[in-house]
Amino acid sequence: MSSLSTSAPGVRPADFRFRCIACGEVRDAASRDFRCAACGDLLEIAYPSWKEARADASRLKSTWSGRRTSQSAIDLSGVWRFRELLPALDDPQQAITLREGNTPLYELPQCARITGVPRLYAKHQGTNPTGSFKDTGMTVAATFARRAGFRWVACASTGNTSASMAAYAARGGLRSLVLVPEGKISWSKLSQALDYGAVTCQLRSDFDGCLRLLQELVMRAPVYQLNSINPFRLEGQKTLAIELLEQLGWEAPDHIIVPGGNLGNSSAIGKALLEMRDLGLISRLPKLSVIQAEGANALVRTLREAGGKRLVAVQAETRATAIRIGNPASWKKAAHVLEATGGACEQVSEIEIAQAKAEIGAEGIGCEPASAVTLAGLKKLVKQGFVKPDESVVLVLTGNLLKDPNFTIEFHRGELFKGTKLEGASSELNFLRRPPIVLDATLDAVLRTLEQAEKS
Ligand code: F0G
Repeated sequence: MSSLSTSAPGVRPADFRFRCIACGEVRDAASRDFRCAACGDLLEIAYPSWKEARADASRLKSTWSGRRTSQSAIDLSGVWRFRELLPALDDPQQAITLREGNTPLYELPQCARITGVPRLYAKHQGTNPTGSFKDTGMTVAATFARRAGFRWVACASTGNTSASMAAYAARGGLRSLVLVPEGKISWSKLSQALDYGAVTCQLRSDFDGCLRLLQELVMRAPVYQLNSINPFRLEGQKTLAIELLEQLGWEAPDHIIVPGGNLGNSSAIGKALLEMRDLGLISRLPKLSVIQAEGANALVRTLREAGGKRLVAVQAETRATAIRIGNPASWKKAAHVLEATGGACEQVSEIEIAQAKAEIGAEGIGCEPASAVTLAGLKKLVKQGFVKPDESVVLVLTGNLLKDPNFTIEFHRGELFKGTKLEGASSELNFLRRPPIVLDATLDAVLRTLEQAEKS
């Protein structure tokens, strides 16, 4: 293994504190449930030293780009490469890393034509080591779990968090405990947790029930909680936005669109945008918009029915199981960043999600259903005039196609909505279906199929 580099001279890793998002109380340490000791709300990581020492934005940018040719493990991580904006490690060798981040930014020419937005891009987090954006947060939070001396880490999950946590725990020599809703997550994600050696519990509950139980558990047992309530997770997930802006030559896009479930990721991306603006790394803010499934639309309802003042929880139901969440923990953080960046919050139907997923797939870029809400949401935002055709838009694709192959197979076979009230309406999507064809093993049969396909 090559040696690990330290920070560039003159650019210090960040000292940090925990700050309550509601009462503003600042502390040096956090309790195990990562809730404010004074008022019980969520904590975020704050960097008081940034106020005194005005950052040298161009020096930070050149330090980060210089590291791209380094072969040290910490620089090869697309998260720790930006470590000046992360909580400081005493020694970079402490980082548990699988070379996360470094995800591609793709053009989407066909989806651009469909939506009428020529400058349309996808930031594909599905190319992370375990296939989802969770890895960018997990490298930081698992590192701090080990640094704090914990032997066990745990999470509640709709699948991706558990896959990621189990992998980083295994790499870091930690044990992991997974709580997932029985029968409501993809087997592909579950198989990852099993392979990486997690103790996996399928609870007869939904995600929200699993998360409630986890929060009780961490107060009773010496277990470190790795859900996105853990503010270290969000610091790692922030780097998606930093890497994106670097890829765009530090020219902010007009819009960034993300799926919303437990609302940690939108909060993290928004925090990064605000910090980058305050540090002078970017001169204007993109609008950050959140899209939810209609059947799991707690943030949409919270903003529309309660003006963002109190959470309107829902009983969640959607085939996009990654975002099947009715009581999102980080709703206040997400509402704040939407307001601060001027973003929108929309909901999309199950049929719109299936259509958008197939359209992204037809670009040669697979994603999971939850990621496809971004394209479906963009279509609505264009119709409403919120996104203008001459603006640039980045969709955050959060997970890999192979995370939920059943959805894709059922869609192409025309079985996705079978027996539901959407069965009739879903026939509008037949033009996108490419079901597998069973044939006799003859040249004739294959040639005929080719001719028919050419005509269609
Ligand atoms: N997309 C995918 C693929 C996800 O797995 C998740 C969340 C989201 C979007 C929503 O992100 O919760 O930060 O708003 N998955 C979690 C999990 C909840 O347990 O894997 P969010």
